[in-house]
Amino acid sequence: MRLSLLLLCPSLAIAAPHDATLHDHDLDSANTRPWRALSDIITDKIWSSPEKQAALETHVDSPRVLRTPDSRLLALYGGDTVLRFTIRNADEAAALAEATGVLSLDVWEFNAEWVDIRLAIDAVSSLLHLLPLSLQDAHVPLLQDSSLAQAVLDSYPLPLDTPLHHDLHSYSHTPKTAPHESPSQSKGGHPFFKDYQPLSVIHPWMSLMSSMFTTHVRRINIGMSFEGRDIPALRVGVHPTNKEKAETPRKTILVVGGSHAREWISTSTVNYLAWSLIHSYGRDRETTRLLEQFDFVFVPTLNPDGYVYSWETDRLWRKNRQPTSLPFCHGIDLDRTFSFQWNGESHPSGPCSESFAGEAPFEGVEAQRFAEWATNETQNNNVEFVSFIDLHSYSQQVLYPYSYTCRDDPPALEDLEELAIGLAKAIRISRKGRQYQVTSACEGNVFMSKNHKDRVVLPRIESSGGSMLDYFYHELKIKYSFQIKLRDTGSYGFLLPKENIIPTGEEIVSALHYLSHFMLGEIGIMSGAPNAEPGEPLSKPAFGEMEESLEL
Ligand SMILES: *[C@@H]1O[C@H](CO)[C@@H](O)[C@H](O)[C@H]1NC(C)=O
Ligand SMILES: [Zn+2]
Repeated sequence: MRLSLLLLCPSLAIAAPHDATLHDHDLDSANTRPWRALSDIITDKIWSSPEKQAALETHVDSPRVLRTPDSRLLALYGGDTVLRFTIRNADEAAALAEATGVLSLDVWEFNAEWVDIRLAIDAVSSLLHLLPLSLQDAHVPLLQDSSLAQAVLDSYPLPLDTPLHHDLHSYSHTPKTAPHESPSQSKGGHPFFKDYQPLSVIHPWMSLMSSMFTTHVRRINIGMSFEGRDIPALRVGVHPTNKEKAETPRKTILVVGGSHAREWISTSTVNYLAWSLIHSYGRDRETTRLLEQFDFVFVPTLNPDGYVYSWETDRLWRKNRQPTSLPFCHGIDLDRTFSFQWNGESHPSGPCSESFAGEAPFEGVEAQRFAEWATNETQNNNVEFVSFIDLHSYSQQVLYPYSYTCRDDPPALEDLEELAIGLAKAIRISRKGRQYQVTSACEGNVFMSKNHKDRVVLPRIESSGGSMLDYFYHELKIKYSFQIKLRDTGSYGFLLPKENIIPTGEEIVSALHYLSHFMLGEIGIMSGAPNAEPGEPLSKPAFGEMEESLEL
């Protein structure tokens, strides 16, 4: 049987009309780009005068806020569904791997037990006919409470339902003065985190952080994206080299998000972590001490072109926006394009695949810039990266190297496992914390038999080489490297409702505190190390609550 490729591949079906490279300033047709209109409004409100704001408020009512998906969203997503297939044996996994590879299906997430696949509703029965009989009733739709198009719509902010704009606006007029007097955000969280934010808000917000909190925040630039956007980062810490050249390299914890564009929760969480440390400095003894010991570098949008595209054109865009050898398929998967164990040659599905690794290692521009920047930091700028955290969504997992194979164990396996378990525990015991699984990032390679004794190596649903995790672990020798897949476990997947932004941020703040104490030798295996600093005893196990309890 021959299947229609277009029917089965939602990203193909929508790629053609949006083929042109889109820059912010190219988009003047607000009617056809509702999200652009929203982000313009938000940005204008932040930076413009009160008079202009008043004028805008009347203007806002005309592109009326949508409560149900409009025709454009229905055209893009109305015909699609996301199915979770339960995998019970190696044959089923192999068949699914083949089908998704050959047909370039959009695999949302997978592990040893299930695969979530987005596809056209019309194509479901054709696909099922290609699969083993046993799989034909082993699937359930995700997003049971809502259509895909509705969930897409719900993930965007409503223009007028948050006081964010006024809050940031007031910040922008009090730069460089008394950071401790910034408005209180502790109750209910900062309004910036009530919604996902577009790049046009995130980047000014980062600049604002660095100009307001000059004692401990600097805005730095990782490099430039394919389409020419900055990839900014915040370096948070009380850097000793500001005054005197430090002899020993500055210990630095590197946190990155947004390498996959549609995983918005990863971007908001990086910003949340940054904000948590930034505003606790000088108020919370514990955080102040951590920022004296470490620098934290936060990169919220490693893939700015893809992020913008996911806001303005296709909410479910994953890759970057580079052209490929096929004119109607854009994008390289930034988490498959790193040089360590890059395996793009053997990847069967090519440029239309959501996990396309490029034609050669480091063809993905943003990945290459990031690697160059990190290498340069360690070689020329007296930085020692002691931990690397790559945030993704979804499935609530703390993953340690390697990704590319389960056959080789990483040299630091035991320590990695111990810390990963600690991170998952810190997440779980934080207020409203969720349960995160701990496993190797290779797990999709392996089918565990029911008794968990036999490991059966399978063809993976997606390729697993060239990952950012393996690269930073192996090439940059950052021993404590992890990938964390954030909420949820499939109810909404990438379309995680915004009410999760703050709770997800909080649980990962808890993990970051745990990580820092571990690195200081105050918890776990390193606590017996001869050069460990004694530090203050940890009175409370619930790190997530530390901030509140220590705030005076
Ligand atoms: C490497 O670091 C030097 C010194 O800070 C800087 O001037 C240069 O631009 C950096 N290069 C890259 C690729 O980041
Ligand atoms: Zn991802």
